[in-house]
Amino acid sequence: MTKFDDDPAKIAALRGRLLRWYAEHARDLPWRKSADPYAIWVSEIMLQQTRVAVVVDRYQKFMKRFPTLIALALAPEQSVLALWSGLGYYRRARLLHKAAQFVAENRGGNLPVRADELRLLPGIGAYTAAAVASIAHGEPLAVVDGNVERVLCRLAGWQADSRKGPTALRRKIEKLAGRLLDPARPGDFNQAMMELGATVCAPRNPQCLVCPLAADCKTRGEHKTLPRAPMMSREVAYALSVRIGTGDRRGLGGREVLLEQRPAHETVMPGMWELPALVDSHVPPKELRMTLRHAIMQVNYYVRIRTVFEDDVDALAVAGGERRWAPLHEASAMALTGLARKVLVRARLFPPPALDSLAPAGNREKV
Ligand code: ADE
Repeated sequence: MTKFDDDPAKIAALRGRLLRWYAEHARDLPWRKSADPYAIWVSEIMLQQTRVAVVVDRYQKFMKRFPTLIALALAPEQSVLALWSGLGYYRRARLLHKAAQFVAENRGGNLPVRADELRLLPGIGAYTAAAVASIAHGEPLAVVDGNVERVLCRLAGWQADSRKGPTALRRKIEKLAGRLLDPARPGDFNQAMMELGATVCAPRNPQCLVCPLAADCKTRGEHKTLPRAPMMSREVAYALSVRIGTGDRRGLGGREVLLEQRPAHETVMPGMWELPALVDSHVPPKELRMTLRHAIMQVNYYVRIRTVFEDDVDALAVAGGERRWAPLHEASAMALTGLARKVLVRARLFPPPALDSLAPAGNREKV
């Protein structure tokens, strides 16, 4: 490849082509209509590891419920987690909430402007700080997410090379990102690079014929990457226990489902609600309600759902969390794990989700 750092005219031409392409092809996404740093921050946290198509619907619901940083700071953590349910990586939601509370208490609700100050907040790393500062305030910092990394590797003709280790390659990528960044329009440039990686320079079947960077690209197609870690398998079982509500309990058919809250000290999904876990993953055939596969990070869970009648509930081993019978209409607004929500949808106890809000990236839930 022509060395871009040797030729400012080539860099300027590349920036121009990318920004013109972005002006014409940028998807109409809700957070792009806002210059509010809080709104941009929320979108960037949601977009980490989760596909745009999944985020759009969740983002709109979240912003409707928490339109300002102060509204988020004042909310109980359970209602923040409830709106995050199914997006995965629940730690992101907890840290977003904590950071909002810190900013509300200590900075009158105003987020810091500069990236180096943003980075001091919980849950804000180099990527989020650069994204928010460049998009909301025009700070000239390059953003390098997975999509941008792929675009730059292909552009420069760099292949994954385990001998050099990922950090040497990563440093080269960050250096190149910084050189190419348009200091006059860093927010648009960063979003254009991410957009290009998400829509044109995709991991498989990249659309090189319509790519604004094709003329400069060393690869023009897929590049060599490191193999993905193999998936592990685990067998687990959960109880599905539903009863008719009594008294003035209302809701969908007046039914209630037994849920269990994961203890606060759990490292994985603390405080989230799930179906009661069974110690024994073997389920007698006549009590088997359904089986499903649910991927979380690198593990494929083969899940058996056992029908447990109300009278037998007390015999279920307690995983250590609080249990409650939740009316179905309340349960759907609780901070459920993605798996619990999936089971309740498949059992037709919850309505099916909107088509564009199905699973996080790669259909793998993240904790
Ligand atoms: N991924 C993360 N942030 C993004 C943004 N602002 N635009 C497009 N894709 C993104």
